[in-house]
Amino acid sequence: MSWFANLKIGYKFNLIMSLLLVSLFIFAALLTYRGQQAFILKVAVDNARNFAKQIIETRDYMSSVVRGEPENNYGLVPQVVATQVAKRMTTGSKYYVRQVSLRYRNPDNRPDDYEAEQLKAFAERTARESSRVIKAKGREVFRYMLPMVAEKSCLECHGEYDKAPLFVRELFPRGHYSYNYRLGEVIGAVSVSIPMDDLYREIGTSLKRDLAYRGTIFLLIILVMGALIRRTIIDPVKLLSETITRVTKTGSFAERLPMRTNDEIGQLIGAFNEMMEELERKTLQSRESEGRYRKFIEMARSAVVTFMEDGKIVISNQRAEELIGLSRQALLGENIFTFLENGEALKNGVAAYLREGKGGGVGETSPQRVRNIHGQVTEVEMALSASMTDQKPLFTAILRDIAAEKP
Ligand code: HEC
Repeated sequence: MSWFANLKIGYKFNLIMSLLLVSLFIFAALLTYRGQQAFILKVAVDNARNFAKQIIETRDYMSSVVRGEPENNYGLVPQVVATQVAKRMTTGSKYYVRQVSLRYRNPDNRPDDYEAEQLKAFAERTARESSRVIKAKGREVFRYMLPMVAEKSCLECHGEYDKAPLFVRELFPRGHYSYNYRLGEVIGAVSVSIPMDDLYREIGTSLKRDLAYRGTIFLLIILVMGALIRRTIIDPVKLLSETITRVTKTGSFAERLPMRTNDEIGQLIGAFNEMMEELERKTLQSRESEGRYRKFIEMARSAVVTFMEDGKIVISNQRAEELIGLSRQALLGENIFTFLENGEALKNGVAAYLREGKGGGVGETSPQRVRNIHGQVTEVEMALSASMTDQKPLFTAILRDIAAEKP
């Protein structure tokens, strides 16, 4: 996750937003797709059922009204009429309708594997209609079948051979398996099929349009949100961090940032400006007081050294530099304890004072021997005082050269 932590907020935001929206997009698309698919299949079943019913009704009607007509006109055989009606109904659509039977008379009506399987199921009365999407030759095809049951009128031509009309007997000799149906037996079925591609085509176009709309809207949301976040949060925070970096480098507290809003970001900018004001005032004050103090100690006739609890020298005057034999630059940062012969005692005194808040020689004068960098020793009288600045204790030692004062 560290790579993520290293990303800029803008990228993080865009990444998260994109991921969220893309998953939402895919989810919504999936739902739409499933919904449309279910709808299309339902429409397919309804259409197929209507075709089948109409064909069956046609056949039933024809079967109940024909007498000897097919004798002279084969086009009036119920099956042939139903086939022609089906053909006319389905021209211009992608639906393909046939009538099939396991004991067919016309080889065109021979069932394929799927149809044979369904016909067997119908014959066993395990199904009253069937609809399914199957794969045939690598293509998905929607299949629908509705069984046809022998009525009394059907048996005229599909019952006993001896009772069948002459033209039927001539065409289909005695013993042909298309005879001897019983009342209520399944003679065959109407079989409707349509390739799924043709069904999908309808979904496909509307789905694509749908996806395009949604995609555009999601993209717009990302862009607008991104711009908004950049304007309201990222840019001001960036400006703030740049300013702070610059201030740290230059040490100039004069910078102020424009406060454009009154929200959390605006408050942050306001707090920054206030902090800068305070810092500017503080540094000015401390510079002034430091200047005054420096002037003051420079005027002193004795050496003055201000140091921290560890002995590190932070302020010194010219006399002190002469006493120790170092320039101011070299002296600042050096340790006062190393220049006193009895430095260890002073160190312990300071530690004792810090521990107990009193004693340790603070507020007192004591004789000391200062050893300068050339090894020369000067006897001095040391007055030690302590002060607290910014929570840090500072000690000031005034080192009066006893010998020099003796005429
Ligand atoms: C007038 C005689 C006649 C009557 C009545 C009749 N059929 Fe037929 N049927 C035929 C003939 C002839 C064929 C063969 C048609 C062809 O050549 O396509 C046939 C074919 C069929 C087929 C197609 C399978 C095949 O054998 O090729 C089915 C299914 C069928 N009939 C069912 C019925 C049903 C159900 C009824 C009653 C509602 C019925 N028939 C009434 C004569 C008849």
